[in-house]
Amino acid sequence: MSLELCEMSLQQTKDLLRLTDQTLQNICCKRFTGEELYVEVLGKVLGGKGRRGPASIFLVFREDDGSLCRGRVFHMKEGAMVERSEEISLDPLSSYAESLMHAQGQEDVVVNWADSFESIETFQDYFHSAVKGAVAAPIINFITCQISGETPGAIIAFNYPGRATNYDADVLRSMAVVIGSLLTLSDEVRETEKAFIYTVEALARACEAAEEGTGRHILRVNRYAGALAANMGLPIDFVETISYSAQMHDVGKIKVPASILLKEGDLDDRELELIKMHPVYGEKILGDSPRLRIAREIAISHHENWDGSGYPYQLKGENIPLAGRITKLADVYDAIRSRRSYKEPLSHEEALTIFRKGDSRVNPKAHFDPVLLETFFKIEHIFAKIYESFD
Ligand SMILES: [Fe+2]
Ligand SMILES: [Fe+2]
Repeated sequence: MSLELCEMSLQQTKDLLRLTDQTLQNICCKRFTGEELYVEVLGKVLGGKGRRGPASIFLVFREDDGSLCRGRVFHMKEGAMVERSEEISLDPLSSYAESLMHAQGQEDVVVNWADSFESIETFQDYFHSAVKGAVAAPIINFITCQISGETPGAIIAFNYPGRATNYDADVLRSMAVVIGSLLTLSDEVRETEKAFIYTVEALARACEAAEEGTGRHILRVNRYAGALAANMGLPIDFVETISYSAQMHDVGKIKVPASILLKEGDLDDRELELIKMHPVYGEKILGDSPRLRIAREIAISHHENWDGSGYPYQLKGENIPLAGRITKLADVYDAIRSRRSYKEPLSHEEALTIFRKGDSRVNPKAHFDPVLLETFFKIEHIFAKIYESFD
């Protein structure tokens, strides 16, 4: 291998490692799909300045039931793969699809026209017309690399500068292997994530406060909190996390006797003190898992007030964790709309009046973050819809 090719190979391997690392991080945040991952990685590693790569790529996958092969042609452009064709469907039994898709276990195929064909023109006859039409023509060489695993398929890379080499095939194959393992890993991460969310929901349901026992309150609070966070322009990770963490705001009430939670009439000082301990109990129940950090923040701070008049620690303003401020507003709106032992349910319009002018329990200016309150008034119709959809 020439020195130049060695340097390119080293650079491309470094790119692949860096992208693998980034992608692993993205996988932990759950944002990836099969085709997107191939497009992203192939584009960055093979495209761009100083990279040796093909001019076009046909990326094709076999349908789950084996009835079709579908793919698209992309062109390499400045470190990215740009789509150049509509979806192309191939009959998996056609000889063309056979040679692309059904060569599992065989060596990847490297073909340069001059090695086996009389002319570039006769070489073109080898290709599917839709693929040929979308590739930057004429085709002078190609490499076929099989994709194995959950969604089998093939990467067909066209028109390397000069000749397509075995070195090019090695690079392509190592990329296919890395992407394939990332996709397998991502499925496992997704399954683990599902199990985690299920556990969180089970915990929230099991601990649901006696006075809110329908299961719907906690689900609505998740939704309001997610809507507020999204409309404040907060990062998607935060929006997703608060959308399942908010439901755990009252897990600490499991340690408060139901006779106190459901008591009609006034509570004595001791009973009030006990109720006011539920944020501290909640924080303890949620433990020290990093995955439950936001849930913990919510549990401990969802009764703090913006002016420092809340409990348990009388935190003030931005010292109150943002997730706690958001969940507080969501929780108060839902409590106003719902029946409680001490009150009748109120309409959305009545709730809006309370959020504007206050009542004996709620003092909006003193209790809520002003930016959040403003966001609430912008999206109050979404709150009404969420309440109705779970009522
Ligand atoms: Fe609470
Ligand atoms: Fe609540």
